[in-house]
Amino acid sequence: MSSVVVVGLQWGDEGKGKITDFLASRADMVVRYQGGNNAGHTVVVGDDEFKLHLIPSGVLYPGIKCILGNGVVVNPAVLLQEMADLKKRGIDISGIRISDRAHLVMPYHPMLDQLDESSRTVGKIGTTGRGIGPAYVDKYARYDAIRFVDLLDPAFFKERIAEVMAIKNNLLDKLYGHEGFDFSRIYKEYAKYAEELRPLVTDTSVLVNAAIKQGQKVLFEGAQGTLLDIDHGTFPFVSSSSSAAGGACTGSGVGPTKIDKVVGVIKAYSTRVGEGPFPTELPENMVSLLRDGRGREYGVTTGRPRRCGWFDGVLAEYSVRVNGVSDLVVMKLDVLDKIETIKICTSYQYRNTFLKEFPASLKVLAECTPVYEEMPGWRTDTTAIQEFKDLPVQAQNYLKRIAELADAPIAMISVGWRRNETIINHNIW
Ligand code: GDP
Ligand code: IMO
Ligand code: MG
Repeated sequence: MSSVVVVGLQWGDEGKGKITDFLASRADMVVRYQGGNNAGHTVVVGDDEFKLHLIPSGVLYPGIKCILGNGVVVNPAVLLQEMADLKKRGIDISGIRISDRAHLVMPYHPMLDQLDESSRTVGKIGTTGRGIGPAYVDKYARYDAIRFVDLLDPAFFKERIAEVMAIKNNLLDKLYGHEGFDFSRIYKEYAKYAEELRPLVTDTSVLVNAAIKQGQKVLFEGAQGTLLDIDHGTFPFVSSSSSAAGGACTGSGVGPTKIDKVVGVIKAYSTRVGEGPFPTELPENMVSLLRDGRGREYGVTTGRPRRCGWFDGVLAEYSVRVNGVSDLVVMKLDVLDKIETIKICTSYQYRNTFLKEFPASLKVLAECTPVYEEMPGWRTDTTAIQEFKDLPVQAQNYLKRIAELADAPIAMISVGWRRNETIINHNIW
């Protein structure tokens, strides 16, 4: 296998970072194809923890090529800080390249994001406040967007910043009575970023396609998750990019014929951060069952406690379908180790009918009650188990039910945050 997409199947934080890092041990290149520093991907190596927001999670292997594709929106200050932090920790960052077609997150984007959220009494999305929505709005509205190719020409870059900042300052004033940003300060700051990042900017589609052509192993690392995808998610409570597997093609300049496998990363239960529907959510008095202990369900980017709930088979079938998942990776099985009875949602009851397919309408979803099957827990520590056959039979049955509901085979099972706490059923590469 040469090219593999890693995609989150729920509402993000499934453990994509751990799995990307795991698969990257045999990869030549890892490509981020969408999102920005709203993402927070954790990789644990021994006792060291790395939290990555923009740089692909393969970066920990020396010599690996790490691409920020055209679909990513990049905050240069955050990227440079992340690069400096990794370098300080002895990580080789020489393989990082940025697409000349990727868009820049400018200082007015987080400001607009936060002002928009805080000014709403209804319709809050619960964003990360990192300016990701406003950056994609500018991309799709076209004229006000600034791309990395623009910073290759310093005079033009200056002109673009001046032009767009005048528009944004006017908008900030009219909409929010905000004083706006000082052009010379922002220009000076961004001219410095441009100087530092210019050598990394290139047509990354050429690099990715060449790697595939040469038979190198290329991983595409999704950020967020399918239910946060702008098209397939629980709209409007989604992020603003194409996190589903299709986004790997548009977000990196690679054709669909070049993708060999789609690895769907899914937790053995469900979580969500921010607002929006969550059919299998546990009530506040039960949530610590999954959030605390080994769950550690607190956001990497914002530190917010994650909402937690049971595994949702309706959602899993939907995500496997819209991504064309070839292999599942079930994460955080160990979090369920102590639970006596585990619930698994097999359909939704909507008025007098049972839905097997995830509905588009949030009004319908709000009226859906999950239909649960109860499965006995295994009450055994699974973190040291290395093979499926050595898992307690209750855990094996639970995983089999997940695969059946999701309609995809399980390639790997994660039983802890460390690299070696991983069970391999079949090799993905
Ligand atoms: P991502 O955004 O999909 O990369 O996931 P995050 O890093 O935001 O959240 C996943 C969290 O679960 C991180 O703290 C990981 O270290 C942790 N994690 C990953 N796999 C496992 C596992 O199998 N068991 C446990 N207990 N934690 C895990
Ligand atoms: P990773 O890659 C979980 C959520 C936010 C909010 C919604 C919109 O770590 O899985 P945004 O700032 O993107 O406009 O917020 O999306 N969200 C995430 N939730 N994991 C993420 O990334 C997320 N990125 C955004 O909480 O509900
Ligand atoms: Mg995360």
